[in-house]
Amino acid sequence: MTTVQSLLDIGVLNRLRILCISETGWFDTKEVFDDIRDAGGAEIDQYAIPWPPFGDLHKDNAAGFAALLEAETADGAQHRVLFDTGWNPAWMDKRFAEEGIDQLLKDGQIEALVISHEHFDHFWGIGSTLRHCPHITLYIPEGFHPKGLTFIKEQGHTGRLITIPPDQPLLLFPGLAIVNFPMHTLLRVDGENVLYARIRDRGMAMMTGCGHGGVLNLLDYARRTFQGGDRIHALYGGLHIAPLEDWDESRDRMVESLGQYGIAKLACNHCTGRRAVEKMLETGLPVLRGSARNGSQNELFVGNGDVVELA
Ligand SMILES: [Fe+2]
Ligand SMILES: [Fe+2]
Repeated sequence: MTTVQSLLDIGVLNRLRILCISETGWFDTKEVFDDIRDAGGAEIDQYAIPWPPFGDLHKDNAAGFAALLEAETADGAQHRVLFDTGWNPAWMDKRFAEEGIDQLLKDGQIEALVISHEHFDHFWGIGSTLRHCPHITLYIPEGFHPKGLTFIKEQGHTGRLITIPPDQPLLLFPGLAIVNFPMHTLLRVDGENVLYARIRDRGMAMMTGCGHGGVLNLLDYARRTFQGGDRIHALYGGLHIAPLEDWDESRDRMVESLGQYGIAKLACNHCTGRRAVEKMLETGLPVLRGSARNGSQNELFVGNGDVVELA
C-alpha cells in the first residue's frame, strides 16, 4: 500500500488562469475522418496526409488546440506557458493575434511551449509560435517520430528541446508538473504529456490535450503519485470520451465514474464529445459553460476565447 511519505510534493500555486485560445481541432469531424480513411486508415502515418501546413487538403477545415496557462507560484512570481500550438498556421495566427499571444511571445513573456502529443491538431501549428519566439523552451513527450523532430527544426526552433520520459513527473516550476503517459493511438502517435497543478486551498487541476491515456487512468495516477492528488479541483481540455459521438454503455460508465472524484470545475472541450458533455450535465457534474464564439460551435463547454480561473 502506498504511504503518504512516498507521494510527491509538487508545491502549490496561488492561482492558475487558463485561456482557451482554441479548442476546435477542426470544424467538420466527418471530413477529417474521411480524409484519414482515404489516406489509408487509422494506422497510417499522419505525415502522409497532405493537410496544412504540408498541403492544402481541406485547409479551411483545419483549426487546432492551444491554451495559455498563467500561474502564480507561492513566491508571487508569474509564469506563462503555452499548452499546445494548434494545427492550421492560418487559424493559429488569427487566434494568436485576437488574444494577444503573438505579442506575449515576441516580448518573451511566455517561458515554455508544452506539446501534449504529436497529433496534427496539437502540434502541426508550431510555426505560428516559433515565428514570434524561435528560442522558446519546448517540452515534448518521448515517442516523437523523426518526421516530427525534423519539422520542429525546419520551423526554425533554436531553443532548448526537452523530451519527457514516461512516468517521470517533471516540475516545470513549483506547483506544476508534466507527466508523459505512454500510449499508442490513432495515426501512429506515441506518448502524451499531461499537466498537473496543485492550487492552494483548492486541490489539483489536471490539463489534457486529448487525454488518450483515459481520463480515469490519468486521475488515478494523480491520486497515487502526488500529495493532494486525491482532491481533484478541476479538469481542463480534451477528455476523449466520445469524439465521434459514438455512444455506448462504456461511455455511460465512464461519465458515472468521473462523478465519483468530487471535481468542482469541469472545463472539458475539444475531443470530449457533445454527447459526453450532455451526459455529464444530466448526471449533475459541474461543467463550465462557454460563450460559443471565435469558431467554437456550442455553449455546452468552455470555448475559444473563454477563460477559466482557478484560485
Ligand atoms: Fe486533439
Ligand atoms: Fe489527440
